[in-house]
Amino acid sequence: MGRTLTILGLESSCDDTAAAVVRQTDGQVPAILSSVVFGQTELHAEFGGVVPEIAARAHAEKIDICVKQALEQAKLALADIDAIAVTAGPGLIGGVLSGVMCAKGLSAGSGKPLIGVNHLAGHALTPRLTDQIAFPYLMLLVSGGHCQFLLVKGPEDFTRLGGTIDDAPGEAFDKTARLLGLPQPGGPSVEAEAVNGDPKRFRFPRPMLDREGCDMSFSGLKTALLRARDQVVAEKGGLTLQDRADLAAGFQAAIRDVLVEKTRRALILYLAENPTQPTVAVAGGVAANKAIRAGIETVSAENGVQFTAPPLALCTDNAAMIAYAGLERFRLGHRDDMTLTARPRWPLDKRAPALLGSGKKGAKA
Ligand code: KG4
Ligand code: ZN
Repeated sequence: MGRTLTILGLESSCDDTAAAVVRQTDGQVPAILSSVVFGQTELHAEFGGVVPEIAARAHAEKIDICVKQALEQAKLALADIDAIAVTAGPGLIGGVLSGVMCAKGLSAGSGKPLIGVNHLAGHALTPRLTDQIAFPYLMLLVSGGHCQFLLVKGPEDFTRLGGTIDDAPGEAFDKTARLLGLPQPGGPSVEAEAVNGDPKRFRFPRPMLDREGCDMSFSGLKTALLRARDQVVAEKGGLTLQDRADLAAGFQAAIRDVLVEKTRRALILYLAENPTQPTVAVAGGVAANKAIRAGIETVSAENGVQFTAPPLALCTDNAAMIAYAGLERFRLGHRDDMTLTARPRWPLDKRAPALLGSGKKGAKA
């Protein structure tokens, strides 16, 4: 019988306060015993983006309630937990600090070990929590705060093959929704609008496809959309429903084409590693987009690579992914102590050059 580990995870790096308990016996399928998420969407709605000070205060108010609920739902006491994992970065520093301070308090009070987890590692390891995917696999992390291709070779071994040099696609969807008068979060509303649109009417650019490699850029797209919208408004005095649907469809098709072509390139680099069970995994809110998901599924199938996407609740920010990443680190013998610091930037791949730009979580990791 293998060793059983039960880990409490805390997440507070952006606009979701979360706590979860994950348990795994060596060699067996991990179980999510509880996963509690308090979103902050309404708190930031009137500002059109995440306000760091408001986020930090809301995290500080909610994090202990989250922990209490996560333990209650798992029917466990702190004494039953083997270690406390917490997002220690990258993210909005006030929020990350709330989580780290709470985890330190819990660790000091209970004597349980503390494990600092990189938020991006949490996303990147989720396909192992949900589908027990074998290393190495290719991960496309695509959300409101991140966009990068990662070669995941081990719980602490990540190679970044490329990423956005400016906006993340989720941010671009959110800004596009604002420009088209659609509700936030922009991704789902632009996607719903695009269903009735003609993706070919407006020919938006496919940025950086003329450049080698897997880096991407999405900030120019929203400028192109703004220009196209203003031109229609200037000609007709306003946007018809069809104009709006066509703009949404054209924008979504541009994002999809860039992500699909860059996935094709990332696959070449990945397959050179000779993986035994080649797999592409996606995570992040934008992975919910059906057109984008279908495009990546198709390019994976064309290359004989399996495609997997965790359920949406585990694709977006949550603490089960942090508990699980903590569990993998703990099993490797990793422990932190009271010197653990909250880090606004924390690249997963220390060898890769820093990315420019700043996402909804602050500076790009
Ligand atoms: O992963 P997530 O919940 O939070 C972080 O950004 O970390 O992702 C949220 C982002 C938002 O920008 C939202 O507009 C986008 O994911 N999103 C979508 C869709 N659903 C959510 N983008 C495109 N299509 C969707 N269906
Ligand atoms: Zn995230």
